Amino acid sequence: MTADPLSWLDTRAAARVDAGLRRTLRARTPEQASVDLASNDYLGLVRHPDVIEGAIAAVRRWGTGATGSRLVTGTTAEHEQLEAELAEFVGAEAGLVFASGYAANLGAVTALAGRGALVVSDAGSHASLVDACRLSRARVEIAAHRDPAAVDRLLSQRSEERALVLTDSVFSADGDLAPLTELHRVTRAHGAVLIVDEAHGLGVRGEGGRGLVHECGLAGEPDLVVTATLSKAFAAQGGVVLASERVRAHLIDAARTFIFDTGLAPAAVGAARAALGLLRRDPSMAQRVLDRAADLARIAGVGQPDSAVVSVDLGEAQVAYDAAQACRARGLSVGCFRPPSVPEGTSRLRLTARADLTAAELGTIATILTEVLADARGREAVLA
Ligand SMILES: Cc1ncc(COP(=O)(O)O)c(C=O)c1O
Repeated sequence: MTADPLSWLDTRAAARVDAGLRRTLRARTPEQASVDLASNDYLGLVRHPDVIEGAIAAVRRWGTGATGSRLVTGTTAEHEQLEAELAEFVGAEAGLVFASGYAANLGAVTALAGRGALVVSDAGSHASLVDACRLSRARVEIAAHRDPAAVDRLLSQRSEERALVLTDSVFSADGDLAPLTELHRVTRAHGAVLIVDEAHGLGVRGEGGRGLVHECGLAGEPDLVVTATLSKAFAAQGGVVLASERVRAHLIDAARTFIFDTGLAPAAVGAARAALGLLRRDPSMAQRVLDRAADLARIAGVGQPDSAVVSVDLGEAQVAYDAAQACRARGLSVGCFRPPSVPEGTSRLRLTARADLTAAELGTIATILTEVLADARGREAVLA
């Protein structure tokens, strides 16, 4: 019997240090001291005066907190306006705003699946969809990454009447795209529902940033449900489910993360509405994100990206971690993905493009990245 019931935490922590997997928190400073390629502020709007003003005006009108669940006191007229505006933007019948994208995924999947259903999820689906599967009480099958034939097989072997297929539209780790047209064809052929997480697609893909679902001509399909976050292109916080009125009504009745969670704070609602308004007024912002991502990929010497995410595979976790630290030390903030976020031996830097990256910033990025990546690739070659 051990005296300290949490001593195993130290053993685990030591193992993570050895494996180069210890995670640390770094507080941002209010002034931007570094060039940012780590955030998901794809449209560069988090400090835009209109977005800040949108948040402040909402706080003045509605107060600082939502004050309760959406079902009790947490719904304001602005929540409903945001839902209608987002739905109209992506071509869906209706929208329902949640306190986060994570909560939107948990709510949509658990309310539409449940015991006696089958859920088929792409192997690369975001952690929130993975957790949604676990909570759903449905039978869960994982389909190979971006493989509609695998989904087809799993759906045709099922005994369950109800089935749900889950995928990101743009996968968060690598920025690659789901084969949505094929997936929708397969799910429809089997009488299943397709849930697409557009967290990294909205504001970036599709006409004026309407997302990959819209780009594939699938907007408004009754057997398709879109989920998204308001924390990336929309420069705020919160999540949304965009679907038919029928699905919206069901989620209000049955989605536990909607019912038992405090509504989205007014500031986030106001900020998201302002960001959406800016994107509508300047739809070319979405293309600018993709153009800047192409610039970053050229600098990093990797293939051309399909989204804002540029993934630079560096192999071992320690090599990727050290490269990220070296960038940071020189004033370049980059993301670093290591196991369990990605498979062993495929740790990577994750660079995210922003629509507002300047030529001067790209010059700085080129100088720093070229040196850091040459060093990291040299080390990885020795280790391999
Ligand atoms: C693909 C994807 N889905 C869902 C989420 C969760 O969204 P939120 O941060 O709003 O909870 C994220 C990350 O934030 C994501 O990358």
